[in-house]
Amino acid sequence: YNRQRLLVVANRLPVSAVRRGEDSWSLEISAGGLVSALLGVKEFEARWIGWAGVNVPDEVGQKALTKALAEKRCIPVFLDEEIVHQYYNGYCNNILWPLFHYLGLPQEDRLATTRSFQSQFAAYKKANQMFADVVNEHYEEGDVVWCHDYHLMFLPKCLKEYNSKMKVGWFLHTPFPSSEIHRTLPSRSELLRSVLAADLVGFHTYDYARHFVSACTRILGIEGTPEGVEDQGKLTRVAAFPIGIDSERFIRALEVPDVIQHMKELKERFAGRKVMLGVDRLDMIKGIPQKILAFEKFLEENANWRDKVVLLQIAVPTRTDVPEYQKLTSQVHEIVGRINGRFGTLTAVPIHHLDRSLDFYALCALYAVTDVALVTSLRDGMNLVSYEFVACQESKKGVLILSEFAGAAQSLGAGAILVNPWNITEVAASIGQALNMSPEEREKRHRHNFHHVKTHTAQEWAETFVSELNDTVIEAQLRI
Ligand code: UDP
Ligand code: G6P
Repeated sequence: YNRQRLLVVANRLPVSAVRRGEDSWSLEISAGGLVSALLGVKEFEARWIGWAGVNVPDEVGQKALTKALAEKRCIPVFLDEEIVHQYYNGYCNNILWPLFHYLGLPQEDRLATTRSFQSQFAAYKKANQMFADVVNEHYEEGDVVWCHDYHLMFLPKCLKEYNSKMKVGWFLHTPFPSSEIHRTLPSRSELLRSVLAADLVGFHTYDYARHFVSACTRILGIEGTPEGVEDQGKLTRVAAFPIGIDSERFIRALEVPDVIQHMKELKERFAGRKVMLGVDRLDMIKGIPQKILAFEKFLEENANWRDKVVLLQIAVPTRTDVPEYQKLTSQVHEIVGRINGRFGTLTAVPIHHLDRSLDFYALCALYAVTDVALVTSLRDGMNLVSYEFVACQESKKGVLILSEFAGAAQSLGAGAILVNPWNITEVAASIGQALNMSPEEREKRHRHNFHHVKTHTAQEWAETFVSELNDTVIEAQLRI
């Protein structure tokens, strides 16, 4: 049978390119929740359009990379250095990302950003237009075009200008903030209007969808309906589609000999100590300093635990050209160093902090041997790390401490210990609660979460979104 053709458009391709020679490239899996969720989507004839993460100024390089990517069904959008600087480092990651996560702008950047705003927004629009050009080139009638995330809010409008019949969906992987926050953006109206050009707009949670609709109502003065947003007879459907993971992939991985061997080594390495785990991109939204300070407080107040627990923090480097991320890195290093100096012994330290990514098998082994996972995001669209941890815990039945500000709190809240990451006393207490929890209670909590993670998969998420998009377009045709 004919599978639905799907063009997935996201700033970040699932693979990032590393140049090995004039015309040779190697490809590495990209980090982050968007990529890992979309890798779990299989039932479509899908093609990816996006940026390969490198600047390729020469034609020889571009040709070779295009060819290498084609084998992975990926189509590159080439962005030059200046555009990446203004669009990706600037507008996307220094303005939209912190704003959508309620962090505001860094204090000392505030005026500078205000001044450079116009040129960064211009670059943002230009970059979105470049994505649209590539989509347009590869589009065939009947294709579903699925745009992703805050990098591409301008894309739905560009696409509809090319072809008003194109089926266009847009999904946001971050929170959509309260309209009071969105209101502060100089480009607030333009962004909303271009998103509204899509047929279907999706969010992880009902709250984010509601924020978006009220931003449209308050800022644009257009009507919200139970279905979405209606402007002069044109309906943009708005709904919540909570993402999931490919849980079977994780469950299966735990039977791979390499993973079993790895687990054995980890267990030996940390014998006699409980393992606490954090896995995050090194991003300010993840609340890593807050997490580490809470762990310090726990050690301070519970001397008996000092040589019996270890915190492993995997901090995947990310957006390293943005100054705010560089500052965070040194801040975290400083805190970790101080605490290890304070509570370490000649043979052991309480915190193992790694500035690197792990391959899939190493990550699974780590999830499986963990006693307590700590997710302390200050805000987080969903947080898939919490799902992945749960998927790997069928035998251990460890405890998940989860920020109430992660989208995942709405789905895993009943099984996790929910915390306010800003309240270090509360997080420290929950560490104690988790480490001392009875096996019966751990079992009960795990059952709840495991069931959710197994039944709400990435595959199902994508199928629901795409079929809703197809239905929305049919209904719109009937309305005319
Ligand atoms: N991850 C990764 N490399 C690593 C460690 C983790 O790619 O070394 C993955 C992890 O498995 C998860 C994703 O990165 O799928 C993080 O997704 P999440 O939704 O938790 O946060 P995001 O990074 O998207 O903000
Ligand atoms: C988050 C965003 C994604 C992004 C990922 C990694 O998950 O929602 O759009 O791909 O972080 O960040 P990066 O800037 O490296 O693509």
